[in-house]
Amino acid sequence: RDPLTLLGIETSCDETAAAVVRLYPDGHGEILANVIRAQLDLHAAYGGVVPEIAARAHVDLLDPAIRQAMSEASVDFGDLDGVAAAAGPGLIGGVIVGLTTAKAIALGCGKPFVAVNHLEAHALSAGLTDDVAPPYLLLLVSGGHTQLVVVHDVGRYTRLGTTLDDALGEAFDKAAKLLGLGYPGGPEVERHAARGKPVIPLPRPMTGRPEPHFSLAGLKTALRQEAMARAPLSDQDVADLCASFQAASDVVRDRVLRAMALFEDRVPEGTALTLVAAGGVAANGPLRTVLGEVAVARGYRLVVPPPALCTDNAAMIAWAGAQRLARGLTDDMGAAARARWPL
Ligand code: KG4
Ligand code: ZN
Repeated sequence: RDPLTLLGIETSCDETAAAVVRLYPDGHGEILANVIRAQLDLHAAYGGVVPEIAARAHVDLLDPAIRQAMSEASVDFGDLDGVAAAAGPGLIGGVIVGLTTAKAIALGCGKPFVAVNHLEAHALSAGLTDDVAPPYLLLLVSGGHTQLVVVHDVGRYTRLGTTLDDALGEAFDKAAKLLGLGYPGGPEVERHAARGKPVIPLPRPMTGRPEPHFSLAGLKTALRQEAMARAPLSDQDVADLCASFQAASDVVRDRVLRAMALFEDRVPEGTALTLVAAGGVAANGPLRTVLGEVAVARGYRLVVPPPALCTDNAAMIAWAGAQRLARGLTDDMGAAARARWPL
């Protein structure tokens, strides 16, 4: 068998991304190019992603991103083994831009096309840079999703828990917004938290519940009340509020511990225990520390992809596409863009 070389395209939120990735017959991966054109400055003034602005920006940014990725990888379109795009879940206008472009390239070059679930791509991303194979327990924490999933195999997932309201990244973003910090909020809250003390009591929603679900909206409401009670906020107030919010990674500790017990019930006895974190919030330092502690306590190996593969990128789309292509799982030109698409 020869290696598979795929072009991947990601346009489901506010990153316009194109990447070229290779899957070798022994299962290991190589990133030949990983191009991201962030739209941050276009959305910053609004404190969040504006779908229509994102979709229009993808139209402008995608072709140059693909050209750059192909040129950095020194790969011709004719040398590709397939083209993959995120077909959802995400902001539908942007997804349509990437999906349609990928179909056009695949059709024009006579190559297989793979419609990738963005969540599956996050779920499999660790295998691109680390020697990790299913089954493993996945904590997926991004701006749009907060899930605990058993990854049994490519295409076989059991969702153990999800959020009943806000995603963890969304909670960070809202916390930052109400404290007058920049967007995206996660890195801002982390930065300010580092010079504060977690002295402000905030709730720990859902801890102790048997099912490893999350509920994060109450945390944001409590933070708002604490912030209003202290207005006008000093620099130290902001730092302490951020530190207190950041300390809510206790919730993640509790929920992951619960999911570990369920995971161990679901995998064959003797399975090496692995916890994989993915999604933008997995870039958070204090959260990584908590996950490290939990992993050590329960005898798990913790795998967190490098930050550039945790946040949205096209290498993970190409990688998931390659995994599917290797198993004969390709799609036809009728594959639809999906705003919602659970794993
Ligand atoms: O995976 P991602 O790039 O996009 C989605 O699919 O949502 O995740 C973006 C989210 C944003 O909410 C952002 O605030 C959060 O990840 N994030 C962080 C950090 N870096 C990014 N949250 C906490 N700490 C960070 N260092
Ligand atoms: Zn994502």
